[in-house]
Amino acid sequence: MANIHKSIVELVGNTPLVELTNYQADHGLKAHIIGKLEYLNPTGSVKDRLAVALIEEALANGTIQEGSTLIDVTSGNTGISLAALGHAQRLKFIPYLEPGTTEERTKIYKGYGLEVRSFHDIAEVADFEEKGLVLDDLIAGIQRIADENGYYYTGQTVRESNQQYHYKTTGPEIWRDTDGKVDYFVAMGGTAGTLVGTGRYLREQNPDVKIIGVQGAPQSRPESPDFTGNIVDGTLPLGRVDRQFVPTLIISNEDNGFSFDEIIDVKAEDAFLTAQATAESDGLFLGTSAAAALTAAIEIAKRPEAEGKNIVVIYPDNGYKYLSTDLYKRD
Ligand SMILES: Cc1ncc(COP(=O)(O)O)c(C=O)c1O
Repeated sequence: MANIHKSIVELVGNTPLVELTNYQADHGLKAHIIGKLEYLNPTGSVKDRLAVALIEEALANGTIQEGSTLIDVTSGNTGISLAALGHAQRLKFIPYLEPGTTEERTKIYKGYGLEVRSFHDIAEVADFEEKGLVLDDLIAGIQRIADENGYYYTGQTVRESNQQYHYKTTGPEIWRDTDGKVDYFVAMGGTAGTLVGTGRYLREQNPDVKIIGVQGAPQSRPESPDFTGNIVDGTLPLGRVDRQFVPTLIISNEDNGFSFDEIIDVKAEDAFLTAQATAESDGLFLGTSAAAALTAAIEIAKRPEAEGKNIVVIYPDNGYKYLSTDLYKRD
């Protein structure tokens, strides 16, 4: 039968682009804001691409085989993708949950039959709540656990195959579906694989494409004295912080065609308002990071120089996993 897939692995990628037509008209915006609906991947997030990339690489070089156990650090989406796409390829997965992982995601892990662990179980970063998260310490800690137990650390934050997969798929899909008419590329970053790989590809096609990174404002970061209690789940600061807090893939690709034209700070509460407004105007139901990236895209769209331009923004997931947060709470 010609149109039956053998595995969910085959369904990853080729997500559609949708313009924010009603919101643009309602607010008199003269630019085109075009969202890439990564939540239409099989487990509902952009991280399915990462899971395919990391598993494909490790299977190909013989580091893992059927029955192997993978571990990684995740805020939820990566874990769900590694669980689902791992199980589809007869692999096991143990997640170490980042702070702020929502109740819904923890329940989803249990649904996949996983044993859930936390950062507090990694001695090297057990005091992260007071000190901020030092990525090198985190990586050293999880690698030690993998070595001691015969697990494979998938290493979403450090493996170049993460950003290379976006270079190979996400970037070309955007280029193809816009007929090469991309003026701005806007995304948040966790590992920054999406930003780096897609950004590199787009800039290679057209050096004038502006790459805009979006990060939670200090008020939305738990380690900041200004923290208000709401985070932008799954994301990390990209700039204007000490280099040890910047995602590894950004630093490793500084001489590989990647740089930001601008980094925009967005408060979680402003992202919540964007999510609520665009659920009403255009029927979207975005996750927090998608809504935060869109908030930045709207800010760009209001600038005079953006008139008539195409702003492509990544929607990493939708709102269903955040219903226990204030994302869609309307007073
Ligand atoms: C909800 C959400 N948004 C954005 C991102 C960032 O994606 P990337 O790791 O490719 O930078 C993640 C990654 O963890 C995520 O879970």
